[in-house]
Amino acid sequence: MKLLITGTAGFIGSHLVEHLLETTDDVSIVSLDALEYSGNKINLASISGGIESDRHHFVHGSICDLKLVEEIVADGIDGVINLAAHTHVDRAHYYPELFIKNNIEGVLNLLRAVEKKPNCRFLQISTDEVYGAVTPDNLCNEQASLNPGNFYAASKASADLYISAAINTDRLDAVIVRGANNFGPRQFPEKMIPFFTHRILTDKNIPLYGDGLQLRDWLYVKDFCRAIWTVFRSGKSGEIYNAGAGNHLTNLSMSHKIIDLLSAERSRISHVADRPGHDFCYAISRKKIGQLGWEPETDFDQALSETVRWYQSNSAWMKTIMAQNSDKTEEECFFERHYRERR
Ligand SMILES: NC(=O)c1ccc[n+]([C@@H]2O[C@H](COP(=O)([O-])OP(=O)(O)OC[C@H]3O[C@@H](n4cnc5c(N)ncnc54)[C@H](O)[C@@H]3O)[C@@H](O)[C@H]2O)c1
Repeated sequence: MKLLITGTAGFIGSHLVEHLLETTDDVSIVSLDALEYSGNKINLASISGGIESDRHHFVHGSICDLKLVEEIVADGIDGVINLAAHTHVDRAHYYPELFIKNNIEGVLNLLRAVEKKPNCRFLQISTDEVYGAVTPDNLCNEQASLNPGNFYAASKASADLYISAAINTDRLDAVIVRGANNFGPRQFPEKMIPFFTHRILTDKNIPLYGDGLQLRDWLYVKDFCRAIWTVFRSGKSGEIYNAGAGNHLTNLSMSHKIIDLLSAERSRISHVADRPGHDFCYAISRKKIGQLGWEPETDFDQALSETVRWYQSNSAWMKTIMAQNSDKTEEECFFERHYRERR
């Protein structure tokens, strides 16, 4: 089976390629990534066989390029898994048009390409954020209404709606997986765990939004990759599957855990002005995907400890990734500026 997987030079995409190359022997992969600010081929360098092997071919390009996408899919692709996206809520607030282009128009291109290729399954990676803020005792199932509370979530929810429409009108074989907050090695350091770890390791304070009492459900990336592959193989066509972990933690508690793992002082937390419209809690039920046989397997505290250690012992990776995001110097990265302005 030959798959097109997009967004593979990013965090989850690189783990998915690794997972499939390690756990299957009949899957070959064409990787497509535009190498945007969060994508770097270094994320694929450590996987078995490296970036190019008999089972893995990397293409530098965008899902916004319809001709390219159609050419790749027409060349014997049996399935497409789309992870390519702009993913950061704060960036979406400043640059919403980029999210419309990459997260909605790009998905439409993939749908157009898949539509022309018989028997080609399409799997979209979506997020628990499309349901908007909920209470932790009220887990969303897949029928819950979409109520995105920020421009990133709105772009992902829009893509999901286009996919549902394509299933209805074009009879596409498509499935959607909505994942909780992922964590693990190789995550771009504007996201909480690598960002806070890096700040502590470089003797800086960690900027925590508001009172830090927002709740997130933390899913280890390797568990999410198993969920994606489970749905790709066994998910019913036209269906949506939530993949939650049930590891709810406030951002404040997560900060304490990271600080404790690095033996730093809790006084390193510096509360900054809250994100506008910051959703209080995301919470999804995993009952439906459980019927396909998927459960998270990883012990949360152990995975978190290993993740923090990974960032601690991969300073060269961190330096490379930080440098690529910088217009000028590491200190002038988007998120450094962003948090400085909130103090
Ligand atoms: N990280 C999470 O917690 C989480 C949770 C649920 C769902 N998701 C979804 O999973 C997917 C991957 O997220 P991630 O955390 O790995 O993000 P990431 O930012 O680490 O990676 C995204 C990748 O997509 C690439 N990309 C962006 N626009 C592109 C385009 N137009 N064409 C081709 N490549 C493009 C980037 O270069 C990057 O390599 C996204 O769709 C995201 O919405 C993420």
